[in-house]
Amino acid sequence: MAKEKGIKELEDLPGVGPTIAAKLKQLGYDDVEKIATASPHELAELTGMKLDAAKQAVDAAKQATTLSYSTGNQVYDKRKSLGVIKTGAKSLDEMLGGGVEANAITEAYGKFAAGKTQLGFQLSVNVQRPLEKGGLSGKVLFIDTEGTFRPDRIEQIAKASEADPKEVLDNIFVVRATTTDQQILAVERADKLIKENNIKLVVVDSLMALFRSEFLGRGALGERQQKLNSHIHKLQKLADTYDLAIYITNQVMDNPAILFGDPTTPVGGNIVAHAATTRLYMRKSKEDKRIVRLVDSPNMPEGEAVIKITPDGIKD
Ligand SMILES: Nc1ncnc2c1ncn2[C@@H]1O[C@H](COP(=O)(O)OP(=O)(O)OP(=O)(O)O)[C@@H](O)[C@H]1O
Ligand SMILES: [Mg+2]
Repeated sequence: MAKEKGIKELEDLPGVGPTIAAKLKQLGYDDVEKIATASPHELAELTGMKLDAAKQAVDAAKQATTLSYSTGNQVYDKRKSLGVIKTGAKSLDEMLGGGVEANAITEAYGKFAAGKTQLGFQLSVNVQRPLEKGGLSGKVLFIDTEGTFRPDRIEQIAKASEADPKEVLDNIFVVRATTTDQQILAVERADKLIKENNIKLVVVDSLMALFRSEFLGRGALGERQQKLNSHIHKLQKLADTYDLAIYITNQVMDNPAILFGDPTTPVGGNIVAHAATTRLYMRKSKEDKRIVRLVDSPNMPEGEAVIKITPDGIKD
C-alpha cells in the first residue's frame, strides 16, 4: 500500500511510461482515477500494452484511489493547518474568516477599476510571507489574460510591506496568455512548476475575457462552456493536490432579468458559479474606497467590507 501512495500521475503507474501516458491523456484518460475505473482490456486495446501489464496498471490505480474517510475533526485540523493569505485589509480578512483560503477557489468579480487586479497583486506579495505574517511562504503563478500585470506596481506594494521587491518579483511566474488555448495550457502544464517552486497561489486575471471574446457571436456557447468546465476542473485539482489558493477575477454583465437591486452578474454562468468556493463582488465607491461583498461562502455569512486601494496596496 505504501508504494501505491506515491502514485499521483499516470507515469507513476507500473508499465506506463511517458509515451503511453501521453497517449492516454490524449484519449481523455487524464488522471489516475480514470484508469482505476477503466477495464484492463480497453486499456490494452487503446495503448497496445500487454493485457497483464494493463491489469497491473489498473490495479495500482485502484489501490491509489481507494476512498479514504476522514472524521470531521481531521478535516477541521487540516483546514486550520492550511492557512490563509491575508488581504491587507482587516475588515476583508474578517469577512473571509481570516483571509483568502488555500485549497479553494476565490473569485472576485466586478466592473472595471473595481480593484480585482489590485487584490491579485496584493495577494501575490502577501502569499510570500511566512505563515505568522499572513502568508503561505509560497510563490505565485500569475496567468495574465488581459495584459495588465504590472511589475512596477508589485514593486511598489512589496516595498510598502518591507519586502525585497526584486525577490518578490523573482517569485512570481507570469504567463501572458492571448488565447484560451494558451490559458488552458498554462494551467495544464503547471504541475511541474508548482512542485518545483512551492507555488501557493495561482492567479487567473481574468478567467473569462478570452473565452468571451473568442466565442463571441460564434453560437458556440456549449463548446465554450465545455472548454471552460475542464479548465476550471483542472484549477480545482491544482488547489486540491497542492493545497494552494486559486484567485480568479471575473467580468460582469448587466442582467436585465434582475428588476430590483443591482443587476450586475458575473459572466461564465453556472460553471463558474459552482466552481468558486468563495465569491466576492467588488465595486467602486468614493475615491480610493471599494466595497467588497461576500456573495457566496461555504462557512461565512454574507457581508460587506470597505477597503481602500492606496499606493501601498490594499488597506482598511
Ligand atoms: N499605484 C496606485 N496607487 C493607488 N491606487 C492605484 C494604484 N494603481 C492602481 N490603483 C487603483 O486601482 C484601480 C484599478 O483597479 P484594478 O486594476 O484592480 O481594476 P480591475 O477591477 O482589475 O478592473 P478591470 O476590470 O478593468 O481589469 C485604479 O482605478 C486606481 O484607482
Ligand atoms: Mg483587472
